[in-house]
Amino acid sequence: MKTVLSGIQPSGKLTIGNYIGAIKNYVALQKDHDCYFMAVDLHAITVPQDPAALREQAEMIIALYVAAGIDPDKAAIFMQSHVRAHAELGWIMTTLTYMGELERMTQFKDKSAGKESVGAGLFVYPSLQVADILLYNADLVPIGEDQKQHLELTRDVAHRFNTRFGDTFTVPEPYIPELGARIMSLDDATKKMSKSNPNPGSYIALLDSPDEIRKKLSRAVTDSGREVRYDPVNKPEVSNLMGIYANFSDLTLKEIEAKYDGQGYGAFKKDLAEAIVAKLEPLQSRYRDIRESGDIARILKQGAEKAAAKAEPILALAKERMGFIPSA
Ligand code: AMP
Ligand code: TRP
Repeated sequence: MKTVLSGIQPSGKLTIGNYIGAIKNYVALQKDHDCYFMAVDLHAITVPQDPAALREQAEMIIALYVAAGIDPDKAAIFMQSHVRAHAELGWIMTTLTYMGELERMTQFKDKSAGKESVGAGLFVYPSLQVADILLYNADLVPIGEDQKQHLELTRDVAHRFNTRFGDTFTVPEPYIPELGARIMSLDDATKKMSKSNPNPGSYIALLDSPDEIRKKLSRAVTDSGREVRYDPVNKPEVSNLMGIYANFSDLTLKEIEAKYDGQGYGAFKKDLAEAIVAKLEPLQSRYRDIRESGDIARILKQGAEKAAAKAEPILALAKERMGFIPSA
């Protein structure tokens, strides 16, 4: 059975971009893979976080994982910081990553742009992600398009380690959705939909109310035409909405085009809003049940135990290969 690992930062509300790019695939992969899904709190603190907000956002992610359909008895659901091996292998991977590689990372460039002071952790963030993945000998890493570069780095560092110290780590493959690898903002189709955008109208959060969802979609930017046609180059806004629609319904792009042939954007946007509401309303009700049940601590304990059991021997082997004296 192949191993799958992924994580999301507890640094804000999750959006339908996170759902389509990542969580939807987590749910699909858990059936026939050994899965590890975490909230990466050690990554979140690479930019300043308010302690109470960090905690709330972490609980929110874990409850959303379960509400979205990840079964804690199948997949390990855990906090990155609960499995200490992440921090330890993270340090080791920092020593094996080149400054030049880190300087080329676009996420670092984006997040540090215009900031007066930037913590060193933001710079070495990708080395910790390398460790997250290699620690489980993950075969597949479900992610959105924006994480491809970090996955390439992971592959390079895994090769580097294996060449220098002997075959130790699995070289992972990215698992990126064909449609929806990069969901764009509702107000600007040149920008990725992101939970950190200051304009809430630019994204749909998984916990937005049905009325918020309807309002945001009715205001979503389109072009001045009226043809519902998939053409990302010439019709980026409509194509983005169509990609979202296909992910929230059983319709293909062709079927969506046929359905709205000659109808303009109004009916299309209305139906899209209802398709999203139909998926998110039950998810939100499960979310509330999980938050109220007090089950999160138990889920995290079980997840961390399973994750540590897998990670510890892999870390021990890597340290031994590097020449560390094994602890008695
Ligand atoms: P983040 O919110 O940056 O921690 O991202 C968590 C996961 O969601 C990563 O795998 C991202 O690639 C994915 N993701 C985030 N935003 C989007 C988006 N707009 N479209 C597709 N995937 C996304
Ligand atoms: N860097 C990822 C993001 O911003 C989050 C992440 C951390 C991750 N560790 C990971 C994703 C390991 C996949 C696998 O979205």
